[in-house]
Amino acid sequence: MTSLNDQLRSLAAKGGKADSEHPELDWSHPAPRLAFWQRPIASGIVNQFIGGEEATARLCAAVAPQMDLQAARDCLLVQVEDERRHADMYRRYLARLNGRPSQQNLLDDAVTRSLSWRGAPEAALLAFHVIVEGEALAFQETARNQIPDPLFDAMSRQIAKDEARHIAFGRLYLSQSLPHLPLQERIELYRWLRALWFEGTARLSSGPLGNVIATAMPRRWMQKRWEHWHTALEAAGLFDGAEASDFPVS
Ligand SMILES: [Fe+2]
Ligand SMILES: [Fe+2]
Repeated sequence: MTSLNDQLRSLAAKGGKADSEHPELDWSHPAPRLAFWQRPIASGIVNQFIGGEEATARLCAAVAPQMDLQAARDCLLVQVEDERRHADMYRRYLARLNGRPSQQNLLDDAVTRSLSWRGAPEAALLAFHVIVEGEALAFQETARNQIPDPLFDAMSRQIAKDEARHIAFGRLYLSQSLPHLPLQERIELYRWLRALWFEGTARLSSGPLGNVIATAMPRRWMQKRWEHWHTALEAAGLFDGAEASDFPVS
C-alpha cells in the first residue's frame, strides 16, 4: 500500500507542474457587456474570490512549517503559489471589469481564528481545505452564471482544477491524521468549527452593501449549509457513525 508520504509527494509533484500545463488564457478577448446592475455584482464576486485566495495563501504559508511530513509541507507551499497566482488572475479580471478592489478581506478573521487553535494543523485544514475551499468551489458555478464571459469561464474552470487538488490534499491528509486525535479533542474541534461557521457567515451577512454572498445568506441557508459541512466533516474522518451522537449537528 502506498504510504501517505508517497501519495502526498505525487500530489505535490502534480501541483508543481500544473501551472505550466494550464492552457494560456486569451486576455485579448473583448470584455463582457454587462448591464449597469450586473457590474457591481460581477465586481463583488471577483472581490470575494480575491479575498478568499489571499486568505488561503496566508493560511497555507503559516500552516506549512507546522506539518511533520515534508511532502505535506511541499503540498501547502505549492498551494501558496497557486493561490497567489489565482489572486493575481482575479485582480487582472477585476481591472478588466473596471471594478474597484475591496479594502476589506472578510476571511481575515477566519484565518486568524484558524491559526489560533492550539497550533495543531488539523483545525486550520478542516476550516479551510474542507469548508472554505469547498464553499469557494461550489460558488464557482454561481459566479460563471453571473458573469457571462468566455474568458471568465475558462479562468474559473482552470482555477477550479487547482482547487480540486487542494481539497484532495485536505481529504488525504485529514483522513489519516484525524483518527489519531482523541475523541474529546475532536468533539472540541467540531464545536469550534461550528461556531466559526455561524459567526463567520453572520459577519458576512452583516457585511457592506454589494457583498454578494451576504444577500444570499439567510439564517436558514446557514443551517442547511452547516448540515452539508457536518456530513463533509464526517466524511473527512472527524467522527464516524458510532460517535455521531457526540457531534450534534445543531
Ligand atoms: Fe485558489
Ligand atoms: Fe485553493
